[in-house]
Amino acid sequence: MLVPMSVIVVGKDAGLRTETRTHLAATGRVHVIAESADYQRAIELIGQLQPHGAVIIVNGEEEAALGLVRQIGHAYPHTAIICTGKHCASETIVRAYRAGAHEFLMQPPNPQELREVLERLEALLGEGRVSRTGRVIAVYSSRGGSGTTTVAVNVAAALAQRTRQETVLVDLNLQYGCLQVFFGVEPTYSLTDVAHNESRLDVQLLRSFLTRVTDGLSYLAAPLKPEEADDIFPAHLEMVLGLLRTQFAQIVLDTPHVLDPNTIMALDQADLILLVTLGDLASLYTTKRVLETFRRMGYEAEKVRLLLNRHKNKEVPLEKIEEVLGQKITFTLTEDARAALEAINMGKPVVLSEAKSLLVRQFIELTKLVAPVEAASTSPGESGRGLFSALFGGKKR
Ligand SMILES: Nc1ncnc2c1ncn2[C@@H]1O[C@H](COP(=O)(O)OP(=O)(O)OP(=O)(O)O)[C@@H](O)[C@H]1O
Ligand SMILES: [Mg+2]
Repeated sequence: MLVPMSVIVVGKDAGLRTETRTHLAATGRVHVIAESADYQRAIELIGQLQPHGAVIIVNGEEEAALGLVRQIGHAYPHTAIICTGKHCASETIVRAYRAGAHEFLMQPPNPQELREVLERLEALLGEGRVSRTGRVIAVYSSRGGSGTTTVAVNVAAALAQRTRQETVLVDLNLQYGCLQVFFGVEPTYSLTDVAHNESRLDVQLLRSFLTRVTDGLSYLAAPLKPEEADDIFPAHLEMVLGLLRTQFAQIVLDTPHVLDPNTIMALDQADLILLVTLGDLASLYTTKRVLETFRRMGYEAEKVRLLLNRHKNKEVPLEKIEEVLGQKITFTLTEDARAALEAINMGKPVVLSEAKSLLVRQFIELTKLVAPVEAASTSPGESGRGLFSALFGGKKR
């Protein structure tokens, strides 16, 4: 799926800013991630949010607006600049281009012209301009209690720690999400606030709804009351994930077991699905059906990785499990009831604990699967069964 272009809108006139946002949003190809009436603040926002583009309204203070165009071109040459305005003289348009604007859009824009402008900008961005598009990793299991949340929490924490890039975990267990128990930090805001503010949601507001765990790790809580789950629709999740992709290197999703429209939206959006299963017959039976369903949904084999959790060496041989499922197990996590229990009691993911158990090492190894570029530059450590290095060692994607 094409990632929407992230832009900030700058202009003195609040009415024109709103009109501009509405026209851009109607295209479905642009996310307005912030807006400002202040030119200095606009420069700060570009530095902070690294949007693909800046839409600058020239009405009102033309000189200052064109000064901003020059400043952005100088300080952030990889940011696309779109000037716009109402009743502008042709002289203003020429001056905007001379100042460094890539495009000029007359207000109200004609839909065809707007489409063409966006196409040209997308081509420009595709030619190597900076774009921040985080990777979405969904953790899913067909059965309750398989360890979905345990895996999601630890993968997110290990990714933040190892890659030193900002990582966010989204709790999609809309009725009874419980990430606060795993992280030991109570949320103030949740996905409900996202839904209730959908018309004015931008990255600044979205960031204010996150719960901070460590410097590089935060989470977006599920609704705080079960009945609020009804307020969340797939369009909200699409918007949230689009905005988070512009801000975070890794976005991990803890998904519920039911394949409802919200979960399907989350899985569709994911670049990678970690499908967690246990080794018992009932789990294998439902996991096999999930794999078939994913195939029918058109997911490519590369997108789905099987993760066998709570594996005990003396259990059914892996080859037998793979035979039943008709698919290779990509990764195995060992049974470690003590570590798992302690983690919940302490409100701290196992990978953030002091003890470096086999399970912790496996979670760290697992991050190489979801951050494959990094895997190429680090020596392979101990994995559940050494399959990881055979499958992914040194392979860049
Ligand atoms: N590798 C493991 N070793 C031992 N215990 C584990 C392991 N992984 C998970 N557990 C334990 O299994 C239980 C279920 O885990 P978790 O809550 O992560 O599963 P879930 O699939 O998210 O469940 P739910 O259906 O409630 O969302 C927890 O008590 C957890 O501590
Ligand atoms: Mg769970």
